[in-house]
Amino acid sequence: MKPWLLLGRAQPPGGGAELLLYQRDSEFSLKADNQELMNSRVYGSEEAMARLGCQNLGKRPGARVLIGGLGMGYSVRTALDTLGEDARVVVAELVPEVAEWNRGVLAELAGRPLDDRRTELHETDVAELIMAARGDYDAILLDVDNGAEAMVREGNNWLYSLPGLTAAHGALRRGGVLAVWSAVPQPAFVKRLRRAGFGVDEVKVRAHGRSSRKGGAHHVVWVAKRG
Ligand SMILES: C[S@@+](CC[C@H](N)C(=O)[O-])C[C@H]1O[C@@H](n2cnc3c(N)ncnc32)[C@H](O)[C@@H]1O
Repeated sequence: MKPWLLLGRAQPPGGGAELLLYQRDSEFSLKADNQELMNSRVYGSEEAMARLGCQNLGKRPGARVLIGGLGMGYSVRTALDTLGEDARVVVAELVPEVAEWNRGVLAELAGRPLDDRRTELHETDVAELIMAARGDYDAILLDVDNGAEAMVREGNNWLYSLPGLTAAHGALRRGGVLAVWSAVPQPAFVKRLRRAGFGVDEVKVRAHGRSSRKGGAHHVVWVAKRG
């Protein structure tokens, strides 16, 4: 088997884990220090998060969705494919190099979602956009760590705290949905979502997606609805 080739490295602004982009043949891997954040062979659950978060929005005029972060663009692509022509997909990506890689070597993986005129990319912390919003979004999709616990930078813990979830609740329209990706179930986080005022479904999704063979690993998407 060919060895992995290091294509790029980046430090999140303000500090945190170093992000490393590797390639082996047609496979790409994005790591935070030595832990894998995203791999181009396994993206079924990232797509599922976007489908679950955007379901019922396909026909909603002017639907507005916030996605944090960009990764390899699979969640953004699925949101775009689910939403209507006049939708707006606001993408927050903390690390500018990740955006640059998505305009270059990673661009074709998810069919160039940054080139879609409905995509609005902000090279910033998704927390900034959540704090600035008041009932602005129909859905917020969060996949910035490997679950409801900081991995890329310590500050991400705010997103999963009661103040962070209360801010996300306020950033959504009534009936809006916060969808959060995780590698594993986290019962304490579900309780916190409920304390922030959300109605919560924990959905088990297949890591390799709907079309793969039966079985395989599963991940979790919490679908939290503002009542
Ligand atoms: C697991 S990847 C996202 C994978 C993505 N769902 C996909 O479909 O490819 C996590 C991404 O979130 C970014 N990120 C981490 N913390 C962030 C934050 N606070 N705000 C915005 N982006 C963040 C990382 O740089 C990385 O690009």
